[in-house]
This record gives sequence, structure tokens and C-alpha cells, in this order.
Amino acid sequence: MKGVILHGGSGTRLRPLTYTDVKQLLPIAGKPISEYALENLMEIGIKEINIVIGSTGGDEVKKYYGDGSRWGVNISYTYQEKPVGIAHAIGLTKEFVQNDKFVVFLGDNYIQEGISKLYENFISQDFDGMLALVHVSNPSQFGIAEVKDGKITKLVEKPKIPASDLAIAGVYFLSSNVFQFIEKLVPSGRGEYEITEAYQNMVDHKLNIGYSVISGWFKDTGTVEDFLDCNRLVLDKMSSKSDINKLRKNVSGRVQIADDAFISDNSRILGPCFIGSGSRIENSYIGPFTSIGNNCKISNTEVDDTIIMDGAEINFSSNFRMRGSLIGPNVKIKTDGKTSNPIKAVLGRDSKLEF
Ligand code: DAU
Repeated sequence: MKGVILHGGSGTRLRPLTYTDVKQLLPIAGKPISEYALENLMEIGIKEINIVIGSTGGDEVKKYYGDGSRWGVNISYTYQEKPVGIAHAIGLTKEFVQNDKFVVFLGDNYIQEGISKLYENFISQDFDGMLALVHVSNPSQFGIAEVKDGKITKLVEKPKIPASDLAIAGVYFLSSNVFQFIEKLVPSGRGEYEITEAYQNMVDHKLNIGYSVISGWFKDTGTVEDFLDCNRLVLDKMSSKSDINKLRKNVSGRVQIADDAFISDNSRILGPCFIGSGSRIENSYIGPFTSIGNNCKISNTEVDDTIIMDGAEINFSSNFRMRGSLIGPNVKIKTDGKTSNPIKAVLGRDSKLEF
């Protein structure tokens, strides 16, 4: 069994962050969102992994994951020149997959319960392909499955009027049979080679295609709201893991604070939250559901429900509060103004804001 993680696509809904940064490398609780996918693949014993990179940010992905030795796996790369569809990206991995079975993870999707149960179902039933389905409240934003008597009958990509609320989650279990179906696809109405359609064609040709319904939560982190939501959910199930010296009376709740992070005595940390290596928190309140990356400097600031990425510096007057924000790497924000409303911002890498 082999693994593929997709890191292509254009990430338009997470701009401006995705003008400079790869969406699958944006951090949730100190780790790129796609590293959770890698961990899921490792949990089922996969050691051979191919990452599909796109025309922007491929070098950053390679720099981060390298040859995989940091995780004890072998990672190779495939280049997709243009983001013309998930099925196209998968088609490019044919040489890597050869005749094996494999699982494809969308690098911006998060599945809370992992993929062990899905994998067991896929292997024990000897399926040619299997989909992970999940009940959602907004089905027109996903590929949707109709099922009858335990079998998939119809699959439609983002239907305007969905026939069910069973969305296709971004983890695809496949055999090498899929390649012949991918080769015959033509671009859909939105101009993409759709993996949903490749599965439909496999169903129509009576291949053994199964499904499993995911019971825990699932997140496609394509939008700012979904990204922050995923951060909340990951922090919420995180256990405390911090140097005991940090667990002073000004730190409470479930927190992960790097051993070399500095928290001044006049700051207050209320978990669940994450504070990365080399970061300094002075005269600040870091509230629930906040992820702070490495080497950040936060002073005179109140913040909650926010992701602050590596190297960001925030210095507010004590009247300011930040909430529901995504602050990109090396952003600098400074103010001595006053407002009673919390600030909500999405700022890309290296932005500077003074007011
Ligand atoms: O999140 C699950 C949904 O993912 C499924 O329900 C849909 O059936 C499926 O089409 C997909 O929908 P999205 O519109 O959310 O896909 P998106 O364009 O965001 O791409 C998903 C991931 O695949 C993302 O990490 C980028 C990567 N990708 C995408 C395309 C189009 C590539 O690597 N190459 C591509 O050409």
C-alpha cells in the first residue's frame, strides 16, 4: 500500500496568505495541516509516499518534507504544472503507484478519527476503490454520494440541488485500476478532471467500489472560517504537554508551550492553546483556541481564537483585542490606539500594519 498527498491547487479562498504560502503548509497547532495527513498515512503503516506539488510553493513543500527521513518514511515528489483537477494530479502518480493499492489524501483535509478503520474496511473487502463519506450541513460544496442497500449508486460533484447530505471526504482509497478511468476523463463544467467522475465510471463499469461513513468530524480547510474551525477542533482535543515550569498560576487549561518559549509573569494563558519555540509573550492575554507559531513576539495584546504564524510580531495597546484572525508569517502589527471592538484580520506574509 502506498500513499499520495496532494499539495497542488491554487488556494484562492485563503488569499492573501496563499499568494506567498502553500495552503497545505499553513499551520494548525504548530504543524502544517498536511502533516496530519502524513501522520494518518503513517498510522496505517504506509512508508512510500508521493507528494504532488504545484507550480507555486513546490520548493517550500520539498524543503519541509525533504526525503521523509525525519518521519521514517520515503517521500518522493511529482510535479503538476497546472491545477486542472484532483483526478489529473492522481493520474500523474501512475509510475509511483505501479500495480499497488494506494490512498490519496487531499493535503488540506483533516479527519479526526484518522484512517485506520477506513483502511481495514478497504483491505478486508478487497475493494477496487473506496470513498470516505461524511454527513455535512452544506452538501452543495462537496462531491455528494447517493447510496442504496450498502452500495454507491450515484456520485455528483458539487450539485446545486444535492440528493443527499453524504459528502465525499478528501481521502481516496484506490487500486491501480483507476488510471485507465482517469485517462478517459474529459474536463468537467468547471474545467477540471474530476475524481468524483472517475469513481462514478468505476461504479458504472461494475468495479468493486465501497464506502465507509466517517463518524467523527471532518474538515476541508479551504476557507478562513474552516481553517480557524479546524484549529479550534484540533486544539480542543489536544492534551497538555508543557514543561512543568510553565504551568504557573498564570497558565491554565490545556496548553502546549515549547520549553524555550518565554511567558512573562504579567501575562495570562488560558487554554486550549499552542505556543511554539522561541516565542515571547509579554504583558498579554492569550485566550482559548489560539495557535502561536515559532519565534513570535506578542506584547500588550489580548488575543483568542486566532492563528499567528512563525516570526509574527504584535504589539497592541492594552485596549486592543484580536479574535478570529489568521496572521501570516513575519507580519508586524503595532498600535497605541483605542477601540472596544475586537480586530479581525487575515494578513499575508510580511504585511506591516501600524495605526
Ligand atoms: O474536501 C473534499 C472535497 O474535495 C470533495 O468533496 C470534492 O468531491 C473534491 O472535488 C474536492 O473539492 P474541492 O473543491 O474542495 O477541491 P480543491 O480544489 O480545494 O482541491 C482539494 C485539494 O487537492 C487541495 O489540497 C488542492 C489539491 N489539488 C487540487 C486540484 C484541483 C491539486 O493538488 N491539484 C489540482 O489540480
